[in-house]
Amino acid sequence: MKILSPLCSAVFASLLLPGLAVDEVECKKFGEIYADGTQMMEKMWDNAFKVVPTGEPSYEQWWFSSLNPNNDVTELIFGTPAPTNCGLEYYHKPGNATPHDPSPENAAQSECLPWITSSCCDENTVLDTQTIKEAYGKNYEWDRCGPISQGCERFFVQEACLYECDVNAGKYRLCSEDDIANSETKDIGLGYNISCNDNGYGNRWQIYNMPVSKMYADAWYRSCENDSFCAADGGSFFSCALRYENSDAFKQQQQQQPQGDPEIVTEIVTVEEEVPVLPGWAIALIVVGGVAVVAAAGLAVFTNVVVSAEKAGTPMFQPLNPGSAA
Ligand SMILES: *[C@@H]1O[C@H](CO)[C@@H](O)[C@H](O)[C@H]1NC(C)=O
Ligand SMILES: *[C@@H]1O[C@H](CO)[C@@H](O)[C@H](O)[C@H]1NC(C)=O
Repeated sequence: MKILSPLCSAVFASLLLPGLAVDEVECKKFGEIYADGTQMMEKMWDNAFKVVPTGEPSYEQWWFSSLNPNNDVTELIFGTPAPTNCGLEYYHKPGNATPHDPSPENAAQSECLPWITSSCCDENTVLDTQTIKEAYGKNYEWDRCGPISQGCERFFVQEACLYECDVNAGKYRLCSEDDIANSETKDIGLGYNISCNDNGYGNRWQIYNMPVSKMYADAWYRSCENDSFCAADGGSFFSCALRYENSDAFKQQQQQQPQGDPEIVTEIVTVEEEVPVLPGWAIALIVVGGVAVVAAAGLAVFTNVVVSAEKAGTPMFQPLNPGSAA
């Protein structure tokens, strides 16, 4: 991919290298990132969830009865029975363009047990905590700021189970098939628009405003109070993942360089050409806008542009390689 002109390379290098190392993604305690459970829940998941007052209809992220109580919640909110197909796509079974029915899983999986009789996720996707944590790649691991307590981690597992396995999550898909066909954009209050069909990939994975209770959100927040999480972009998991992706690529390139190599700056930029982590037009933006950017402020601006651009223009979850699904 020959995107970077020499000018662009120079700008790119000046944005990445001085002082503000791109490999450092800021970590803070949950309590410093978010004001409360509501802000945590909504900000972390980019408004996939909406926190509602305890007692109002909201979806359970875990339960102990034999029937899924979320089916009743859907009935209460929409006045229609729970959907009969899964609606969401990504790691949802078993694959692409057509919706699929939830089906039983066997007991091989030790997580997401409530959904075992009727599940939109394959048991291999949610085999255990480790599998869930690593499912979307290193940049989506929730303990990038260091090991987190088990009490805190449980909530990430529960969220994953609800999202991956619950048929009702499909009721909250952001983009309908019509939206995808018409390449609609959606403004969900993130400061940029979401594309329903970018690069020809339908956004069938994203959910928006699924109600969860304030009690649950606050319990999550309290359980994580002494744990650390990525603070980038106010603690958005998706923005953080993008930072980690860029930072991991950067570190990998650094490791490939001999120590003290005077050519390192040139080398990093050269390698950057071979492993593009930015969409081409975002790099074009840097060329146009980047020259005027003062170096000190450069990284922040650069990162914000890229984060917004990436989220607006490229699905956070790229389609999986057929075969690579866990
Ligand atoms: C989102 O798109 C709408 C129209 O589709 C536009 O009016 C609005 O300015 C856009 N918002 C952003 C943040 O780009
Ligand atoms: C966090 O640390 C404080 C102070 O040590 C302690 O009182 C509190 O119980 C801890 N919270 C959790 C959830 O571990």
